[in-house]
Amino acid sequence: MKKVLITQKLLASCEESLEKRFDVFRLYEQQDREQFLKKTGPEIKAIAGWRVDAGLMDKLPNLKMIANFGVGYDGIDIKEAKKRAIMVTNTPDVLNDAMAEMAVGLMIALCRRLPAADAYVRTGKWAKKGSFPLQTELTGKTLGIVGLGRIGKEIALRCQAMKMRVVYFGRNKQTSQPYVYYDDLVEMAKKSDWLVVATPGGSETEKLVDQKVLAALGPNGNLVNMARGTVVDQAALVLMLQSGGIGGAALDVFEDEPNVPDELIKLENVVLSPHQGSATDQTRFAMGQLVVDNLAAFFAKEPLLTRVV
Ligand code: 8YV
Repeated sequence: MKKVLITQKLLASCEESLEKRFDVFRLYEQQDREQFLKKTGPEIKAIAGWRVDAGLMDKLPNLKMIANFGVGYDGIDIKEAKKRAIMVTNTPDVLNDAMAEMAVGLMIALCRRLPAADAYVRTGKWAKKGSFPLQTELTGKTLGIVGLGRIGKEIALRCQAMKMRVVYFGRNKQTSQPYVYYDDLVEMAKKSDWLVVATPGGSETEKLVDQKVLAALGPNGNLVNMARGTVVDQAALVLMLQSGGIGGAALDVFEDEPNVPDELIKLENVVLSPHQGSATDQTRFAMGQLVVDNLAAFFAKEPLLTRVV
């Protein structure tokens, strides 16, 4: 039997599609999770979801495959999956454009203070107080991309169209790329007006953007985080924003989602977004399709489409 466990609630169209093809169980609906896992756990062959730890793997002794809904698979304990010969797939590429559009959207929202400008009109301040204060623009500025992967490259293309200069930091220089490479993030931050984080999460990038990097970005610099909250030292970021150590931040991801610290909410030099980089109908549909296609390939004993482990 093709028994698939859905660990977190997925897009409705994806769940429907899974239901048509496989024998689906929903962990997130179980009142008594432990009892359910004890009874049904041994029958489960595959998972669709984005958070799977070793404890859950222990309760699924015949688990062979995890189809992660998302390009980032830091929610899956990869070391444990490898140890148990569990295959893992993700959803790369189909979300690159949506992510890059969101990055540019956040950059414009921050430098032109669009949320505040919107509120200025809605609360009648425009009529009462006159013009909204002048802001800055992206044209002519240097964008430092932290992680020039598939998403980073789409951000770079769009920002070139915005007449920005693009540089990047990553583990390796990519000789096929036309942008200036930095092997030192602090050095790149010194030279950048904007720092956009587009690197994978996980232990390797934890607090990569720390106080030193933020200080190098400086009072006229802005940070955009599209990746994972873990990549930025959030406490250091709050202090730097409060003191004017950096100019501003636009954040789509946070350390402890969906909790956003009050200190960030109170700040005016910040634009906040509820982790919606890939959150469009067309992109989420394509991500869901990839989850289904990977599971179908697994049960048909065919090569997986986008395997990471
Ligand atoms: C989430 C993401 O997967 O792809 C990623 O890595 O962060 C997102 O697309 C999605 O929000 C899960 O609902």
